[in-house]
Amino acid sequence: MSKQRSLTVEISQELPQLAAHEAIAVCVFEDAPHVNPGERDDLQSTCEALVQSGEFKGQAGTSQLFYQASANGTHPRRLLLLGLGPRSDYKAHELQRAAGLASRAARDGRIRHLYFMLPTSGDRRSSTRAVAEGATLGLYEVDFYQNKEEETPELERLTIVADAEVDKLRAEVERARIISEAVNWTRTLADEPGAGLPPREFARRASEMAEEFGLSVETLDAEEVRKRGMGGLWGVGRGSEEKPALIVIRYEPEGAADDNTTDADELWAFVGKGITFDTGGISLKHGLDMYEMKTDMAGGAAVLGALRAIAQLKPPQRIVGIIPAAENMPSGHAIKPGDVIKTLAGYTIEVVDTDAEGRLVLADGIAYARELGAKRIVDLATLTGSIIVALGDQRTGLFSNNDEWANQVTAAATRAGEPVWWMPVSDDYKKRIESAIADFKNYGGRPDATAAALLLSKFAADTPWVHLDIAGTAWYDEAQPHAPKGSTGTGVRTLVELVCGGDATPQAL
Ligand code: BES
Ligand code: MN
Ligand code: ZN
Repeated sequence: MSKQRSLTVEISQELPQLAAHEAIAVCVFEDAPHVNPGERDDLQSTCEALVQSGEFKGQAGTSQLFYQASANGTHPRRLLLLGLGPRSDYKAHELQRAAGLASRAARDGRIRHLYFMLPTSGDRRSSTRAVAEGATLGLYEVDFYQNKEEETPELERLTIVADAEVDKLRAEVERARIISEAVNWTRTLADEPGAGLPPREFARRASEMAEEFGLSVETLDAEEVRKRGMGGLWGVGRGSEEKPALIVIRYEPEGAADDNTTDADELWAFVGKGITFDTGGISLKHGLDMYEMKTDMAGGAAVLGALRAIAQLKPPQRIVGIIPAAENMPSGHAIKPGDVIKTLAGYTIEVVDTDAEGRLVLADGIAYARELGAKRIVDLATLTGSIIVALGDQRTGLFSNNDEWANQVTAAATRAGEPVWWMPVSDDYKKRIESAIADFKNYGGRPDATAAALLLSKFAADTPWVHLDIAGTAWYDEAQPHAPKGSTGTGVRTLVELVCGGDATPQAL
């Protein structure tokens, strides 16, 4: 099991004399003035001098640890410079990554307590959140199954040093703790190998979390899935010894009526693809990267992670999370290319390629959301390799049938530091999903991400819906300065911001 590190984050106006296991982090821009005015005078001049000397350039994604003899000469004071890139590019997003890098560098430098000078550019609240979230996200590791003993002392404490408003900023630190812990929890699910997280274990983890945070959860087992006519989920899952399941998890704010009469009583659904391992099925995948398909439930994990945070932030919005969970395997029981499945919504789909399984399980997940009375839907899915070709790992593809809802989700994603890029949903592409034998087919050539989204839109019908294709952003192929190789937990912060951000002040804070 995972040995996740916990980091205590606090905020203070004081910067005391540092002990040997402590250090100070200061952000540096590539252009002058490199260090924000307002930093303590001695720090500012030291940092400016280091930059002037060419020792450190302030490029984004870089850091350097300097040793400086302390005033009384008893021990060296350590200074960690963090690059933020050009001032004109500055976003909270950049600061968040710098904080992630800082916590990783501090850990590697055997620093147990890091003071982080809050930059004075940008507003203090979002900067505080960026630092607190980034630092906690940065310490995430995937060495769940390594035997090695920890030789390095961990970074235990991060003190954000702000020049004012410390009391107000404390709420941001607490909110950042809740959100970043939820993201890291999501990552532990998404990085877990397929064998450790089949659908029933995924459902068990959901119940365990729900119990801890006061959510209610109900899991429909394989028999129930089949009986209710969820032919997409059943069809994908039936080739595996590990049976499929539909996980349904709910957050109900205090005092909400379930009659959709006011905005807050309106039910929103988050639907997450929960393929616990995707071999491709009979249309078997090939190549060395198949192991990455252990993360094909990242959308489902993000939905759970978002609800974990929402349960603690207590916004006044009713939410249901729906996760169609299945393992896509080839076997004598598996669905075959050319087979036709009947979905919960009643539409039939010809399964041209059993590896295009995500859209089949999501079709049922989205239809079930509507059956439950959802008035707005967001789905998250590691759906297509095609979106990786289009956008790589730095933008999530956003598809929607409703501009107003798409704008709301986009604004939330941007504030959360998880940028999205709009892609089309249009009948211009309908040839890609037309079948001779059934209502639709699940694969029709390029562009596949767009065809997949068009198919899903038929199941969302007239309910405002956003589809986030996170195949590129859910996983880093290699380690980054602020993150290890592996899952990113993308989507959690967007969903939480959508429900708890903007003007909505969470009751808990
Ligand atoms: N889970 C994959 C998509 C994926 C690929 C996610 C790479 C993350 C990284 C999905 O189920 C899939 O297999 N898609 C196929 C569809 C194709 C066969 C129509 C793809 O995109 O190659
Ligand atoms: Mn697949
Ligand atoms: Zn898949």
